[in-house]
Amino acid sequence: MYVVVVASQKGGAGKTSLMRSLAVATHQAGHATALLDTDPQGSLTSWWNRREDQQPALVRFDVADFKAGADRLAEAGIQYLFVDTPPSVRPELRTMLGHASLALVPVRPSPDDLDAVGDTLALIEDAGCPFVFVLTQAKPRTRLQMQAVMALAKHGKLAPTVVHDRTDFPTAAITGKAVTEFEPETAAAREVKEVLEYVMTQLRKDAGKAKAGR
Ligand SMILES: Nc1ncnc2c1ncn2[C@@H]1O[C@H](COP(=O)(O)OP(=O)(O)OP(=O)(O)O)[C@@H](O)[C@H]1O
Ligand SMILES: [Mg+2]
Repeated sequence: MYVVVVASQKGGAGKTSLMRSLAVATHQAGHATALLDTDPQGSLTSWWNRREDQQPALVRFDVADFKAGADRLAEAGIQYLFVDTPPSVRPELRTMLGHASLALVPVRPSPDDLDAVGDTLALIEDAGCPFVFVLTQAKPRTRLQMQAVMALAKHGKLAPTVVHDRTDFPTAAITGKAVTEFEPETAAAREVKEVLEYVMTQLRKDAGKAKAGR
């Protein structure tokens, strides 16, 4: 089982929106997928409760013993576990990153957001977790986006597809949907599928150490 943890110390970076979009697209691609909400704000859980479809499954377990919980899911046949996290440093986050196959770091293209990336990276690197950046909520064709791409590329891998600021994301979320379910042929849906393709490639690359409990 692959464990994908979305992490950013910056509030509103796009963690919850990105991870649920990718998780739904993973489920739509035919993989057994589960979601775990470790944010006390509970945004992911509220969204899931608005869904008609019960898949991907929302799971709960004690994150203090993350490995045991993840192992049980793997035994039950789950192939991908997507984990949402709060915008704050908690001891459980370090533990989860220690068991993650890949950390996804969504970043908005703004100087304030770029400044805050260091804190998140310190935590991820301390856990020894592979990571990729994903630019999110970017306005199309702006210099800010170009500057952010160059700044982030110095620190690590960056998904080649940018997730732009599109109303499809909050609109789909009203009914507990993701953009690939709401309007499958939109630019937003295409971007999510491309980011997922990149994430899958990264997971396979690190396959040796990428199993839960590495
Ligand atoms: N690509 C996008 N286009 C338009 N709006 C977006 C996009 N991604 C996220 N949003 C909106 O931006 C806001 C913040 O996004 P989200 O809740 O996913 O961030 P977060 O990092 O999970 O926040 P928190 O740190 O509070 O958990 C939400 O209102 C969401 O609907
Ligand atoms: Mg969130």
